Amino acid sequence: MQHSHDTIITEDVAIAGKILLQGGIVIFPTETVYGIGAISTKPEACKRIYEIKNRPSDNPLIAHFSSIEEIEKYAKIGIQSELLLKNFTPGPLTLILDSKITSFEDSIFTSGLETIACRIPAHTSVRRLLEYVGLPISAPSANISGKPSITREKDAIAVFSGKVDCILKGEEPIVGLESTVVDARKLPIQLLRAGSLDPQKMENLLNLRFIRPTSDSSLSPGNRYKHYAPNAKLTIIEENPSLEILNLQKDEKIAWIGFSKWDKAFFQIVVQSNQEYAYRLYAFLNECDLQAVDQIYCQVPQKDSLQEAIANRLHKASDPR
Ligand code: TXA
Ligand code: MG
Repeated sequence: MQHSHDTIITEDVAIAGKILLQGGIVIFPTETVYGIGAISTKPEACKRIYEIKNRPSDNPLIAHFSSIEEIEKYAKIGIQSELLLKNFTPGPLTLILDSKITSFEDSIFTSGLETIACRIPAHTSVRRLLEYVGLPISAPSANISGKPSITREKDAIAVFSGKVDCILKGEEPIVGLESTVVDARKLPIQLLRAGSLDPQKMENLLNLRFIRPTSDSSLSPGNRYKHYAPNAKLTIIEENPSLEILNLQKDEKIAWIGFSKWDKAFFQIVVQSNQEYAYRLYAFLNECDLQAVDQIYCQVPQKDSLQEAIANRLHKASDPR
Protein backbone atom coordinates (compact mmCIF):
# COMPACT_ATOMS: atom_id res chain seq x y z
CA MET A 1 0.00 0.00 0.00
CA GLN A 2 2.71 2.41 1.09
CA HIS A 3 4.18 3.32 -2.28
CA SER A 4 1.30 2.46 -4.56
CA HIS A 5 0.35 5.23 -6.90
CA ASP A 6 -2.96 3.74 -7.93
CA THR A 7 -5.68 5.82 -6.38
CA ILE A 8 -8.96 4.09 -5.65
CA ILE A 9 -11.87 6.49 -6.12
CA THR A 10 -14.93 5.18 -4.31
CA GLU A 11 -18.13 6.06 -2.47
CA ASP A 12 -17.71 3.00 -0.28
CA VAL A 13 -16.74 3.94 3.28
CA ALA A 14 -15.67 0.35 4.04
CA ILE A 15 -13.11 0.39 1.21
CA ALA A 16 -11.71 3.74 2.36
CA GLY A 17 -11.74 2.55 5.98
CA LYS A 18 -9.80 -0.63 5.17
CA ILE A 19 -7.20 1.38 3.30
CA LEU A 20 -6.78 3.66 6.33
CA LEU A 21 -6.42 0.67 8.68
CA GLN A 22 -3.71 -0.73 6.41
CA GLY A 23 -1.75 2.50 6.81
CA GLY A 24 -3.00 4.20 3.66
CA ILE A 25 -3.85 7.82 2.91
CA VAL A 26 -7.43 8.78 2.08
CA ILE A 27 -8.89 12.06 0.81
CA PHE A 28 -12.41 12.68 2.12
CA PRO A 29 -14.95 15.50 2.16
CA THR A 30 -15.88 17.20 5.42
CA GLU A 31 -18.42 19.98 5.97
CA THR A 32 -15.59 22.56 5.83
CA VAL A 33 -13.08 21.52 3.13
CA TYR A 34 -11.62 18.24 1.84
CA GLY A 35 -9.18 16.56 4.21
CA ILE A 36 -6.18 14.29 3.54
CA GLY A 37 -6.21 11.71 6.30
CA ALA A 38 -4.36 8.86 7.95
CA ILE A 39 -5.03 6.96 11.17
CA SER A 40 -3.63 9.23 13.90
CA THR A 41 -1.85 6.40 15.69
CA LYS A 42 0.05 5.30 12.58
CA PRO A 43 3.07 7.62 12.55
CA GLU A 44 4.43 6.38 9.23
CA ALA A 45 1.13 7.10 7.52
CA CYS A 46 0.89 10.52 9.17
CA LYS A 47 4.41 11.34 7.99
CA ARG A 48 3.40 10.49 4.45
CA ILE A 49 0.74 13.22 4.60
CA TYR A 50 3.52 15.76 5.15
CA GLU A 51 5.39 14.43 2.12
CA ILE A 52 2.36 14.42 -0.15
CA LYS A 53 1.32 17.93 0.90
CA ASN A 54 4.86 19.22 1.09
CA ARG A 55 3.89 20.46 4.55
CA PRO A 56 6.47 21.87 6.97
CA SER A 57 7.10 19.18 9.57
CA ASP A 58 6.49 21.53 12.51
CA ASN A 59 2.91 22.28 11.45
CA PRO A 60 0.74 19.80 13.38
CA LEU A 61 -2.31 17.97 12.03
CA ILE A 62 -5.88 18.22 13.28
CA ALA A 63 -7.18 14.92 14.68
CA HIS A 64 -10.78 14.03 13.85
CA PHE A 65 -12.85 12.08 16.39
CA SER A 66 -16.32 10.57 16.38
CA SER A 67 -17.32 11.82 19.83
CA ILE A 68 -16.29 13.63 23.01
CA GLU A 69 -15.73 10.24 24.66
CA GLU A 70 -13.23 9.33 21.93
CA ILE A 71 -11.36 12.62 22.43
CA GLU A 72 -11.13 11.89 26.15
CA LYS A 73 -9.01 8.82 25.43
CA TYR A 74 -6.28 11.05 24.00
CA ALA A 75 -6.71 14.53 25.48
CA LYS A 76 -7.80 16.39 28.61
CA ILE A 77 -10.98 18.39 28.14
CA GLY A 78 -11.30 21.42 30.43
CA ILE A 79 -14.58 23.08 31.44
CA GLN A 80 -14.69 25.75 28.74
CA SER A 81 -13.58 23.33 26.03
CA GLU A 82 -16.26 20.86 27.08
CA LEU A 83 -18.96 23.52 26.85
CA LEU A 84 -17.79 24.49 23.37
CA LEU A 85 -17.65 20.86 22.26
CA LYS A 86 -21.12 20.12 23.64
CA ASN A 87 -22.69 23.17 22.02
CA PHE A 88 -20.90 23.47 18.69
CA THR A 89 -19.96 19.97 17.64
CA PRO A 90 -20.31 17.84 15.63
CA GLY A 91 -19.41 20.79 13.43
CA PRO A 92 -16.72 23.11 12.13
CA LEU A 93 -14.88 23.70 15.41
CA THR A 94 -11.39 22.57 16.40
CA LEU A 95 -10.19 22.78 20.00
CA ILE A 96 -6.60 22.76 21.16
CA LEU A 97 -6.41 20.36 24.11
CA ASP A 98 -3.64 19.05 26.38
CA SER A 99 -2.46 15.68 25.17
CA LYS A 100 -2.63 12.55 27.33
CA ILE A 101 -0.28 10.76 24.97
CA THR A 102 2.95 9.63 26.53
CA SER A 103 4.47 7.26 24.01
CA PHE A 104 6.94 8.76 21.57
CA GLU A 105 5.44 6.75 18.72
CA ASP A 106 2.17 8.61 18.93
CA SER A 107 3.75 12.04 19.09
CA ILE A 108 3.18 12.47 15.36
CA PHE A 109 -0.30 13.56 16.34
CA THR A 110 1.06 16.94 17.18
CA SER A 111 4.46 17.35 15.53
CA GLY A 112 5.87 16.84 19.00
CA LEU A 113 3.66 19.44 20.72
CA GLU A 114 2.02 18.62 24.04
CA THR A 115 -1.34 19.63 22.68
CA ILE A 116 -3.70 18.08 20.14
CA ALA A 117 -6.04 19.94 17.83
CA CYS A 118 -9.32 17.98 18.10
CA ARG A 119 -12.36 18.20 15.89
CA ILE A 120 -15.63 16.25 15.71
CA PRO A 121 -16.84 16.72 12.14
CA ALA A 122 -20.51 16.69 11.14
CA HIS A 123 -20.20 15.45 7.56
CA THR A 124 -21.87 12.04 7.08
CA SER A 125 -19.06 10.44 5.04
CA VAL A 126 -16.30 11.29 7.50
CA ARG A 127 -18.48 10.32 10.47
CA ARG A 128 -19.11 6.93 8.92
CA LEU A 129 -15.41 6.61 8.16
CA LEU A 130 -14.52 7.42 11.79
CA GLU A 131 -17.03 4.86 13.03
CA TYR A 132 -15.68 2.24 10.65
CA VAL A 133 -12.05 2.61 11.71
CA GLY A 134 -12.81 3.20 15.41
CA LEU A 135 -9.70 5.37 15.74
CA PRO A 136 -8.98 9.08 15.31
CA ILE A 137 -8.04 10.29 11.83
CA SER A 138 -5.44 13.02 11.49
CA ALA A 139 -6.16 15.21 8.52
CA PRO A 140 -5.04 18.60 7.40
CA SER A 141 -6.85 20.31 4.56
CA ALA A 142 -6.34 18.45 1.28
CA ASN A 143 -4.25 20.85 -0.74
CA ILE A 144 -0.60 21.20 -1.58
CA SER A 145 0.94 23.38 1.16
CA GLY A 146 0.52 27.06 0.33
CA LYS A 147 -2.19 26.47 -2.29
CA PRO A 148 -5.91 27.13 -1.83
CA SER A 149 -7.87 24.50 0.09
CA ILE A 150 -10.18 22.27 -1.92
CA THR A 151 -13.98 22.22 -1.80
CA ARG A 152 -14.79 20.49 -5.09
CA GLU A 153 -14.46 16.78 -5.80
CA LYS A 154 -13.02 17.47 -9.24
CA ASP A 155 -10.17 19.53 -7.71
CA ALA A 156 -9.50 16.80 -5.15
CA ILE A 157 -9.26 14.23 -7.93
CA ALA A 158 -7.15 16.46 -10.19
CA VAL A 159 -4.64 17.33 -7.46
CA PHE A 160 -4.40 14.01 -5.60
CA SER A 161 -4.97 11.21 -8.12
CA GLY A 162 -1.83 9.12 -8.22
CA LYS A 163 -0.56 10.65 -4.94
CA VAL A 164 -2.86 9.07 -2.36
CA ASP A 165 -4.31 5.59 -1.91
CA CYS A 166 -7.97 6.50 -1.98
CA ILE A 167 -10.38 9.36 -2.61
CA LEU A 168 -13.70 8.93 -0.83
CA LYS A 169 -16.55 10.45 -2.78
CA GLY A 170 -19.39 12.10 -0.86
CA GLU A 171 -21.31 15.32 -0.52
CA GLU A 172 -19.04 18.28 -1.23
CA PRO A 173 -18.26 20.65 1.68
CA ILE A 174 -21.13 23.02 2.43
CA VAL A 175 -19.23 25.51 4.62
CA GLY A 176 -16.26 26.12 2.33
CA LEU A 177 -13.80 27.50 4.92
CA GLU A 178 -11.64 25.53 7.35
CA SER A 179 -12.86 25.01 10.91
CA THR A 180 -12.68 27.65 13.61
CA VAL A 181 -9.67 26.89 15.85
CA VAL A 182 -9.96 27.82 19.55
CA ASP A 183 -7.62 27.33 22.49
CA ALA A 184 -9.83 27.39 25.58
CA ARG A 185 -7.38 25.63 27.91
CA LYS A 186 -6.82 28.80 29.92
CA LEU A 187 -7.96 32.41 30.01
CA PRO A 188 -8.02 34.47 27.96
CA ILE A 189 -9.43 32.09 25.38
CA GLN A 190 -7.72 32.42 22.02
CA LEU A 191 -9.35 32.37 18.62
CA LEU A 192 -6.45 30.94 16.61
CA ARG A 193 -8.27 30.71 13.29
CA ALA A 194 -11.61 32.31 12.39
CA GLY A 195 -14.04 29.98 10.66
CA SER A 196 -17.73 29.82 9.93
CA LEU A 197 -18.85 29.72 13.57
CA ASP A 198 -19.88 33.10 14.93
CA PRO A 199 -17.24 33.90 17.59
CA GLN A 200 -19.78 36.00 19.44
CA LYS A 201 -22.04 32.99 19.94
CA MET A 202 -19.18 31.12 21.57
CA GLU A 203 -18.27 34.16 23.67
CA ASN A 204 -21.87 34.57 24.78
CA LEU A 205 -22.15 30.92 25.73
CA LEU A 206 -19.08 31.14 27.97
CA ASN A 207 -19.66 34.76 28.94
CA LEU A 208 -15.99 35.42 28.11
CA ARG A 209 -14.28 37.47 25.43
CA PHE A 210 -11.84 35.74 23.08
CA ILE A 211 -8.54 37.26 22.05
CA ARG A 212 -6.98 36.99 18.60
CA PRO A 213 -3.27 36.35 18.67
CA THR A 214 -1.23 38.22 16.07
CA SER A 215 -0.53 36.33 12.87
CA ASP A 216 3.15 35.74 13.60
CA SER A 217 2.27 34.07 16.89
CA SER A 218 3.91 30.77 17.64
CA LEU A 219 0.72 29.52 19.28
CA SER A 220 -0.82 28.15 16.13
CA PRO A 221 2.03 26.91 13.98
CA GLY A 222 -0.06 27.16 10.81
CA ASN A 223 -0.23 30.92 11.16
CA ARG A 224 3.45 31.17 10.31
CA TYR A 225 3.06 29.83 6.81
CA LYS A 226 1.86 31.29 3.56
CA HIS A 227 -1.57 29.98 2.69
CA TYR A 228 -4.30 29.64 0.16
CA ALA A 229 -2.41 31.44 -2.61
CA PRO A 230 -3.52 30.98 -6.23
CA ASN A 231 -0.98 31.43 -9.03
CA ALA A 232 -2.23 34.86 -10.12
CA LYS A 233 -1.80 38.05 -8.10
CA LEU A 234 -4.86 38.62 -5.93
CA THR A 235 -6.08 42.09 -5.00
CA ILE A 236 -8.80 42.90 -2.48
CA ILE A 237 -11.00 45.87 -3.37
CA GLU A 238 -13.98 47.66 -1.85
CA GLU A 239 -16.20 47.83 -4.93
CA ASN A 240 -16.82 46.32 -8.31
CA PRO A 241 -13.73 47.47 -10.22
CA SER A 242 -13.81 49.78 -13.20
CA LEU A 243 -11.26 49.29 -15.95
CA GLU A 244 -9.93 52.83 -15.50
CA ILE A 245 -8.78 52.31 -11.95
CA LEU A 246 -7.28 48.92 -12.67
CA ASN A 247 -4.78 49.95 -15.32
CA LEU A 248 -4.86 46.58 -17.05
CA GLN A 249 -2.77 45.22 -19.89
CA LYS A 250 -4.89 44.65 -22.97
CA ASP A 251 -5.13 40.88 -23.06
CA GLU A 252 -4.97 40.11 -19.38
CA LYS A 253 -7.51 37.61 -18.10
CA ILE A 254 -9.17 39.05 -15.03
CA ALA A 255 -11.15 37.01 -12.52
CA TRP A 256 -13.61 38.57 -10.13
CA ILE A 257 -15.59 37.45 -7.08
CA GLY A 258 -17.93 39.91 -5.45
CA PHE A 259 -21.48 40.98 -4.75
CA SER A 260 -22.23 42.45 -8.18
CA LYS A 261 -21.55 41.52 -11.76
CA TRP A 262 -18.53 42.87 -13.59
CA ASP A 263 -18.79 42.75 -17.39
CA LYS A 264 -15.07 42.93 -18.07
CA ALA A 265 -14.19 39.83 -16.13
CA PHE A 266 -12.92 36.82 -18.06
CA PHE A 267 -14.20 34.64 -15.24
CA GLN A 268 -16.38 35.70 -12.34
CA ILE A 269 -18.52 34.53 -9.48
CA VAL A 270 -21.25 36.79 -8.14
CA VAL A 271 -22.37 35.98 -4.61
CA GLN A 272 -25.47 37.08 -2.71
CA SER A 273 -24.17 36.77 0.84
CA ASN A 274 -21.05 36.14 2.90
CA GLN A 275 -22.25 32.58 3.41
CA GLU A 276 -22.20 32.03 -0.35
CA TYR A 277 -18.85 33.87 -0.57
CA ALA A 278 -17.34 31.45 1.97
CA TYR A 279 -18.90 28.46 0.25
CA ARG A 280 -17.55 29.39 -3.19
CA LEU A 281 -14.22 31.11 -2.43
CA TYR A 282 -11.86 28.13 -2.73
CA ALA A 283 -13.68 26.77 -5.79
CA PHE A 284 -13.18 30.22 -7.31
CA LEU A 285 -9.46 30.32 -6.47
CA ASN A 286 -8.87 26.82 -7.78
CA GLU A 287 -10.79 27.65 -10.95
CA CYS A 288 -8.59 30.76 -11.39
CA ASP A 289 -5.55 28.46 -11.46
CA LEU A 290 -7.23 26.05 -13.89
CA GLN A 291 -8.20 28.88 -16.22
CA ALA A 292 -4.75 30.48 -15.91
CA VAL A 293 -6.11 33.94 -15.19
CA ASP A 294 -3.60 36.78 -14.91
CA GLN A 295 -5.12 38.82 -12.13
CA ILE A 296 -7.72 38.16 -9.46
CA TYR A 297 -9.91 40.80 -7.83
CA CYS A 298 -11.94 39.98 -4.74
CA GLN A 299 -14.46 42.25 -3.10
CA VAL A 300 -14.23 42.78 0.66
CA PRO A 301 -16.81 40.65 2.47
CA GLN A 302 -19.92 42.15 4.06
CA LYS A 303 -19.85 43.13 7.71
CA ASP A 304 -21.31 40.15 9.49
CA SER A 305 -20.12 37.20 11.57
CA LEU A 306 -18.38 35.61 8.57
CA GLN A 307 -16.43 38.74 7.64
CA GLU A 308 -13.41 37.92 9.77
CA ALA A 309 -13.00 34.40 8.39
CA ILE A 310 -13.38 35.38 4.72
CA ALA A 311 -11.14 38.45 5.07
CA ASN A 312 -8.49 36.29 6.77
CA ARG A 313 -8.42 33.84 3.83
CA LEU A 314 -8.36 36.69 1.29
CA HIS A 315 -5.44 38.38 3.04
CA LYS A 316 -3.46 35.17 3.13
CA ALA A 317 -4.23 34.53 -0.54
CA SER A 318 -3.12 38.06 -1.46
CA ASP A 319 0.28 37.78 0.21
CA PRO A 320 2.96 38.96 -2.18
CA ARG A 321 5.26 36.05 -3.01
O1 TXA B 1 -11.74 22.33 8.64
C1 TXA B 1 -10.66 21.88 8.96
O2 TXA B 1 -10.14 22.10 10.07
C2 TXA B 1 -9.91 20.98 7.93
C3 TXA B 1 -10.70 19.69 7.79
C4 TXA B 1 -10.00 18.69 6.91
O3 TXA B 1 -10.98 19.16 9.05
N1 TXA B 1 -8.59 20.77 8.37
C5 TXA B 1 -7.65 21.76 8.37
O4 TXA B 1 -6.38 21.36 8.77
O5 TXA B 1 -7.89 22.89 8.04
P1 TXA B 1 -5.09 22.26 8.53
O6 TXA B 1 -3.96 21.38 8.83
O7 TXA B 1 -5.12 22.83 7.18
O8 TXA B 1 -5.16 23.36 9.59
C6 TXA B 1 -4.89 23.02 10.93
C7 TXA B 1 -4.55 24.25 11.71
C8 TXA B 1 -3.17 24.73 11.36
O9 TXA B 1 -3.17 26.14 11.36
C9 TXA B 1 -2.33 24.16 12.51
O10 TXA B 1 -1.18 24.89 12.74
C10 TXA B 1 -3.31 24.24 13.66
O11 TXA B 1 -4.56 23.93 13.10
N2 TXA B 1 -2.97 23.27 14.70
C11 TXA B 1 -2.95 21.93 14.61
N3 TXA B 1 -2.54 21.37 15.76
C12 TXA B 1 -2.32 22.39 16.62
C13 TXA B 1 -1.87 22.46 17.97
N4 TXA B 1 -1.61 21.38 18.68
N5 TXA B 1 -1.76 23.70 18.54
C14 TXA B 1 -2.05 24.80 17.81
N6 TXA B 1 -2.47 24.79 16.54
C15 TXA B 1 -2.59 23.61 15.95
MG1 MG C 1 -4.73 23.93 5.55
